[in-house]
Amino acid sequence: MKKILVVDDSPVFCSLVQEQLTDVGYKVRSATDGASAVSNAIRFQPDLILLDIEMPKVGGLEALSKIRDYESMKRVPVIIVSCHREKETVLTAIKKGANDYIVKPVNVGVLLAKVSDWINTTIEEQWKFLPLEQQSALRLLKISMTSAFDLAAKGEALPYQKLKETCQALVKTIGKDGFGGILRSVEDYNNTLFLHSLMVAIYMYMFSVFKGFNEEECLLNAMGGLLHDIGCAKIPDEILFKPGKLDTEEFDQVKLHVRYGMDILNNTRGVDQTVTDICLSHHEKMDGTGYPRGIKSGEISVNGRMASIVEAYTALTIKNASGQVHDKRDALLRLRTPQGHLDQQTLNEFEEAVAHGFHRKA
Ligand SMILES: [Fe+2]
Ligand SMILES: [Fe+2]
Repeated sequence: MKKILVVDDSPVFCSLVQEQLTDVGYKVRSATDGASAVSNAIRFQPDLILLDIEMPKVGGLEALSKIRDYESMKRVPVIIVSCHREKETVLTAIKKGANDYIVKPVNVGVLLAKVSDWINTTIEEQWKFLPLEQQSALRLLKISMTSAFDLAAKGEALPYQKLKETCQALVKTIGKDGFGGILRSVEDYNNTLFLHSLMVAIYMYMFSVFKGFNEEECLLNAMGGLLHDIGCAKIPDEILFKPGKLDTEEFDQVKLHVRYGMDILNNTRGVDQTVTDICLSHHEKMDGTGYPRGIKSGEISVNGRMASIVEAYTALTIKNASGQVHDKRDALLRLRTPQGHLDQQTLNEFEEAVAHGFHRKA
């Protein structure tokens, strides 16, 4: 769990921000003056600091200089949150070591997005401990997928062949060095489309290998995992990442991501049939209650059945918008209900694959 220190002389502001950050899964501590900001930073060792400027006794900028004097605090992201909007104050703050600046009154959505971006940046720094090939494949995939989601949001075609080459590099390193390192290196990532797509791609690949598919089929299933939710780029973030339950209208909007995804893939040259099929069928249910077509058991392809299991397992085992995460066993149990949604035989195989770390039995 990532730790955040909130520093502001207004206890009301501190508790409001603390509540919002705690709700999305951060461990938060607060301080109401510059002196206790420094001592808390040293004792609590936060992963990020939100810092006010005007405070009694020791001000925010003086506290920032003192915090930066400690070796362990040199690289921790500090976001200034202040009512000062003058250019000189912003520049002084940056000079003293602030990484970002938000002017009050604070929009909670903007604050959460900035915090999440900076935390993600610190997580990406840890990728340097992965095997060289894995870290470069992961970085390249992050860049390619970010640009793919941007293009998709604008309704433009995707650079499919490039994405496929990047995905191929990733699965090759997984085949060589396993996927445990990658899993650990992204687990604290905030709920982003990238993380979800990456994990569905990895599990689709590993499950395909476990089932004995050939190399090309394994790659195409990984590609399907990577692009299955590409249509989500067209859904507003406040709905897509809303903590808690969606109302009927919001859920209807989210359901449209499959149609949007199909439009984007149909508008892109050279997309493999398996990839389109996974995008179209990953929310279908065996009893016909899924979407968008409401097709039943035999009508859903093997890849589609695998994708709906892998997608649901991934959604349960990575941190969601409310900061909730389930362990493997709990997630597998939850996939069993409601009955009739997922293909039981494929689910049995998936459970076996998870139990064996996706290694095929000799
Ligand atoms: Fe989806
Ligand atoms: Fe998904």
